[in-house]
Parts: sequence; C-alpha cells; structure tokens
Amino acid sequence: MRSAQETLALIGGRKPDFALERDLYCDPGVYQQDLEQVWYKEWLFAVPACELAKPGAYATMQVGAYPVVIIRGKDNRIRAFHNVCRHRGQRLCAKDNGSTQNLVCPYHQWTYDLEGKLIYARDMGEDFDASKYGLKKVHCVDLGGVIYVCLAEVPPPIADLARAAMPYLAPSGLADAKVAYSSTIVEKGNWKLVMENNRECYHCGGSHPSLCRTYSDNPRMTAMDGPDSASPDILDHWKRCEAAGLPSRFVNAADFQWRLARIPLLNNAESYTMSTEHAVEKRMGTMPFYDAGSLLMYHYPNTWNHFLGDHAIVFRVLPISPTETQVTTNWLVHKDAVEGVDYQLPNLTEVWINTNDEDRQVVEENQKGILSPAYEPGPYSRIQEEGVIQFVDWYCNLMTRRLSPRPAMAAE
Ligand code: FES
Ligand SMILES: [Fe+2]
Repeated sequence: MRSAQETLALIGGRKPDFALERDLYCDPGVYQQDLEQVWYKEWLFAVPACELAKPGAYATMQVGAYPVVIIRGKDNRIRAFHNVCRHRGQRLCAKDNGSTQNLVCPYHQWTYDLEGKLIYARDMGEDFDASKYGLKKVHCVDLGGVIYVCLAEVPPPIADLARAAMPYLAPSGLADAKVAYSSTIVEKGNWKLVMENNRECYHCGGSHPSLCRTYSDNPRMTAMDGPDSASPDILDHWKRCEAAGLPSRFVNAADFQWRLARIPLLNNAESYTMSTEHAVEKRMGTMPFYDAGSLLMYHYPNTWNHFLGDHAIVFRVLPISPTETQVTTNWLVHKDAVEGVDYQLPNLTEVWINTNDEDRQVVEENQKGILSPAYEPGPYSRIQEEGVIQFVDWYCNLMTRRLSPRPAMAAE
C-alpha cells in the first residue's frame, strides 16, 4: 500500500504523454489519496435538479466514506447534508432516492426537517439543546439544472464554471425536464480508467457501432483547442446555432478541469438513435431545432454530459474501490413529453445503453491488463488521445500540488 510520498514519487517519475504506472490504477493507498485529495475536495456532479422534482424528494450518493443526501426543501431549494444521524451516527436514508416529509432516523426516530434542523428527539431530557444537532451541511449548488456538491470545508471556486455554463445550458430548459430513464452500472476498473476512456474516441470505431452512426470519432472535432477553424462544417454549424440563440464555441477552464462545446452530429443526425432521427416529439427547453448537435460538457473528476435538441444525457462517476467504479446515466426529456406517445424508451436509450456496456468492457479489460506484472505504461497518441493526456496531466498536477510538503501557511 503506497504512502502519499510514494504516490508523489510515482507521479513525479512518470513519462510525459505516457499512461500511468500500475499502482496509480489499483493500489489501495493511492485510492485513499485520490479520495482525500480529489474526491473530498472537488465539486462533484450529484444529480440533475429535475430528479428532485417536488419538495421532500431526495437522492443519496456515496462518495468514498461519506454518505450524502440531497433533498429539495419546502422553499424549493435543493440542499445537501451528510447522511448521518447526529444521535449515534445511523445512516439516515438507505434508499437511492425517495420522497419524505421529514428525514426520520430509522434507529431511534430522531427527526430532521428538510432544512436539516432536528425537530424531534424522544426522551433526551430537559437540558437537551436540539439546535446543536442539526444535520451537517454539504456544499451544494444548482448550475442551471445540474446539482453539484462539495465535501470540502472550503470548496474551490465554481463561479467561472457557473458563469460559462449557464448560458450554454439555458436553452436546454433543464428545470423543465424530467428523468425518463436512469441506469447505474459498476465497471470493474479504476475511476481514472473510466475517465480516460471517456476522453478519447480512438476506441470508438472498434467498440461503439451504435454510437458511431451519429457521433464523429474524428479527434479534431473535440480537440482541446476546438476543431480546425478551417473546417467549414463546424463553422456553419456554430453560425446557425448561435444565430438561433445557442452558444456553441469551445469554452475551457484555465486548467481544463471542464469544457463546454456544441458539436454537430454526423450527417445532420438529430439525436443518438439507431435511426439518427430524434427520439422525442418535444424539444428540450427552447431548443430551436432537432439537429443542433450535442453540447458536450465535462467536469473532472466525475461527469460528462450530452445536451441534444430532443433530450439530454448526464453521466455521474463515483469510485467504489481501487478497481471498481459506479457509472450512473440519466436520460432527461421535456417534462411534458409522454412515454409511449412522444417517445419510446428503447428508442431513446438504446445507443447509450449499448455504449455504456461497451465502455464497461473496454475499461474492465484495460484494468485486467494493467494488473499483469508485464504491464508497462505505453505512449498516448497525441493525435487521438489529447483529451486523455490533458486529463492525466490535470490529475497529476492536482495530486502533486496537494501531496507536496509545503509551508503551513500556504493552505489550498
Ligand atoms: S442513531 Fe439516529 S436516532 Fe439514534
Ligand atoms: Fe467509449
């Protein structure tokens, strides 16, 4: 089990533009440091706000050792709390999601309101001060219909992302959407392998026959600095989208932790369907046409998203163990779209259910190979895997900064 100093040395000794050393993908010590330095400190995508449609609706998530509950209050605000009773520490909500008037602990029925205040605790005596035992808060923001949480006491700034993302997301009308379908799978691979796999389409031609009907695997399309400016197809797409009120050009975080970009689908395809036509007879929000392509948004360490004319797909990644990762996918449609009338679930979900399963297989085989004593990190393709290089650099720079010994005053 690697110590923090050993992890730092492994990262420091890596060859630039090469895959990481084995232990960074499987060692329990590295995994614990990933949790402490990345997962417990960064903003994480939690749920689409529309999943918690009414006051009292809640969802839970497990971030490493931390159970978290996200709940919509009577004032319609969404809040997040540590999902841990203040009496003797019982996990309050065991279900993935549900709806409740109050949060009642199943052990001795201490009861909290939707704002986390302790409102009932039986036989605790005269001098018991309930105001001291409210639920512990977790930072929580609504970024245009997607909820992010952060476990850090002082979270990193998120204003830049909020400012950039709001205008891009607004036409998708996520507040007026609903979850049409949700899937959760477990991939037997380290969370970084799941993210790396998402950040390239070098594998798409060999793995994703359904997705490749509509999604271009041309690496220039999603290059970090945007597609070739000489490509008239893209420029025409952006001009058409922007004239219709859809921000489209690439926006990157300074450290590339996130990016927004609206890219066209292949051959004017409308949606990620087998037929390439739209799956939902009601466009999202104020989307002006079906063939608006896909607004791609990723945010490290745990989400990538596709916002289309007729639906949106939001992905959440959570680490479970050094070599297991949970991936939850939600398909969102306009809240007035009626299943069986305006859309058929198999048609809506087929491409990404296939794609997720194909990615799961790729990641699991990748992990198996990396566990071999014969594994040796190989070079990334600078043409095809620029996004992977950039993700790995982001991770390594962050870990180096946070694991390096530093003067006590220079807290991050
Ligand atoms: S642990 Fe929750 S009421 Fe006792
Ligand atoms: Fe893939």
